[in-house]
Amino acid sequence: MPPILEVRDLRVEFPTRRGTLTALDGVSFDIAPGEVLGVVGESGAGKSMTGAAIIGLLEPPGRIAGGQILLSGKRIDNLPYEQMRRIRGREIGAIFQDPLTTLNPLYTVGRQLIETMQTHLPLSDKEARQRAIGWLEMVGIPAAAQRVDSYPHEFSGGMRQRVVISLALCAEPKLIVADEPTTALDVSIQAQIIALLKTLAREKRTAMMLVTHDMGVIAETADRVAVMYAGRIAEIGPVRSVVKSAKHPYSAGLMASIPPLDRKVDHLAGIEGSMPRLSAIPQGCAFNPRCAHVFARCRIERPELLETGSTRAACWLYDPASEKQAPEVMRHV
Ligand SMILES: Nc1ncnc2c1ncn2[C@@H]1O[C@H](COP(=O)(O)OP(=O)(O)OP(=O)(O)O)[C@@H](O)[C@H]1O
Ligand code: SF4
Ligand SMILES: [Mg+2]
Repeated sequence: MPPILEVRDLRVEFPTRRGTLTALDGVSFDIAPGEVLGVVGESGAGKSMTGAAIIGLLEPPGRIAGGQILLSGKRIDNLPYEQMRRIRGREIGAIFQDPLTTLNPLYTVGRQLIETMQTHLPLSDKEARQRAIGWLEMVGIPAAAQRVDSYPHEFSGGMRQRVVISLALCAEPKLIVADEPTTALDVSIQAQIIALLKTLAREKRTAMMLVTHDMGVIAETADRVAVMYAGRIAEIGPVRSVVKSAKHPYSAGLMASIPPLDRKVDHLAGIEGSMPRLSAIPQGCAFNPRCAHVFARCRIERPELLETGSTRAACWLYDPASEKQAPEVMRHV
């Protein structure tokens, strides 16, 4: 089946007084219908930036400086704001960490669901209200027929995030971009919400990009995983391969240091040092100052994604031409 989302060689830049910062550089991936792509990586790797570029909500002065984003084969990276706003409601649903940024405190949740659906689907008031109740039921809100008339502040954090999910799904989008959708919630509800998201995505054949620091969530939910580092994809492949036998030295380190559920990854147990600032990304492979397998080529040439057999990794160890240069390193991987 053709992909719902295609990101091709995406480049995002931030002009600053001291020059242009490149926040994303050459990011490419696809998501198929019903597929969940997990996106992981240390804080500042570019995960949220990738999501923001896709949904057309890059914070100025950030801008897409190269590449393409296609939704069902049509470019969406160069659309006027108004057109993109319509796509955002109808075809792409967004779920962020904090439900309060998505919900309007002045309207009942029912009104917000009804307005969203009616903007995008031809429904009468009565039909829309019935569907709103149906959505609240589907995301597990008890007594939905009464709760539909409640305001966001009348819900607990977990229930509010369920409302946000129902709001993201109610227009039946083709793609969901979920950026740490459960990080702000109690650990006990996180798994429930993720399971819910996954079931709904599967049933509706929705494509989903799921950004999370939680490897447990990734292992349970994602079909494929993209590991980001310094604004690029370091490795991408099926969830089992990436979690169990990552090929890129950075992803291997990341997977080895399964972080606590409630904390962002600022440093990695198995890897010294930290990710470079955007203004100081090293030449060659951005990971080279931290890499235990580094060899001469890594400091000069930047690796593109290369086939490793089970995944694709941006690492010279997987270029057959590197073998002559560093055979001793190859054996250690
Ligand atoms: N307004 C901005 N101007 C300049 N640089 C920015 C701006 N917003 C973000 N950045 C930089 O872009 C890079 C990517 O940030 P992004 O928010 O995508 O990281 P992330 O992977 O989502 O991290 P986290 O796990 O902390 O959410 C970071 O280096 C960040 O400092
Ligand atoms: S390209 Fe070189 S420095 Fe980069 S991850 Fe691979 S071995 Fe390490
Ligand atoms: Mg983020």
